Amino acid sequence: MYGRAKPSEGRVPGKITVPQLRARKLQGTPGEGASRGHGPGEPRRIAMVTAYDYTMATLVDEAGVDMVLVGDSLGMVVQGLANTIPVSLDEMIYHCRAVARGLRRAHLVGDLPFMSYQVSPAQAVESSGKLMKEGSCESVKLEGGVEVAEHVHRIVRAGIPVVGHVGLTPQSVHALGGFKVQGRSAGQADKLLSDARALEEAGAFALVLEAIPPDLAEEVTREIGIPTIGIGAGAGCDGQVLVCTDLLGMVRGHTPRFAKRFTELGDAIVGAVQTYVTEVQAGTFPGPEHAYKANGARPPPRAADDESAALLDAPMALDLWH
Ligand code: KIV
Repeated sequence: MYGRAKPSEGRVPGKITVPQLRARKLQGTPGEGASRGHGPGEPRRIAMVTAYDYTMATLVDEAGVDMVLVGDSLGMVVQGLANTIPVSLDEMIYHCRAVARGLRRAHLVGDLPFMSYQVSPAQAVESSGKLMKEGSCESVKLEGGVEVAEHVHRIVRAGIPVVGHVGLTPQSVHALGGFKVQGRSAGQADKLLSDARALEEAGAFALVLEAIPPDLAEEVTREIGIPTIGIGAGAGCDGQVLVCTDLLGMVRGHTPRFAKRFTELGDAIVGAVQTYVTEVQAGTFPGPEHAYKANGARPPPRAADDESAALLDAPMALDLWH
């Protein structure tokens, strides 16, 4: 479009786009297997995972996830905080930038942290713009329903794709009285459904449903026209999201019921580092295969006048990797 770019090059080739994700909305009634993403040519469920750094981003991207979320869960996972409330927009930007460098295919969503959007729609647009410009995000996520619908509308109008998030919204942990399942009462379920509808109407392109009963998640999924992405919301959603350290079994303390550990990387890391400590203490690491070639007999020291000539003889770059 501009300069020498072709019209198709406005996006990075191979990257999953928002329209492609939007088209992954499954058709039919939840639970009717064949009509919900299992038939040939039918949309597949969206697989999303969190990541907070470059290395993890490269690995989850290689594994084929569709969306990577730099969640404000980084406050708990990376920073060791009790909740996500203290996380700042600048911290989010720092981690988003690192993750963006590791993604070749997956779509990058950045979380708007607490108090970076609640104040006003204008603040929400400004913070979203920073996540896109400085964090290299491709969309933003925010928590809340009807009360942030105007914010979502204004962000979308600025050309920024938005993912909504309802159910257990961790930024409201104190108002909710803890990290608890939401939508249990009829009133709560009705409110959640109207929140979901308001977010769709405001222009959100996907909606995270966190910690709600599976039948309510199925109802929301049926009632709205954008993909739902569940976490602790059962199998009836259009996609799933998990925190990477939960999925990989790296968490030592309590993990929520829904956080399936697909492997035990925590044990593998502790085991590997224990072996390293043992070998260092025993002097068996490094072995000769991990050391550079010896210099051999050192030449006699040069006279001071020869020093500059010796420097000129030295190789310009040492190959440290071989
Ligand atoms: O912050 C986060 O990681 C999230 C996911 C759990 C959906 O919001």
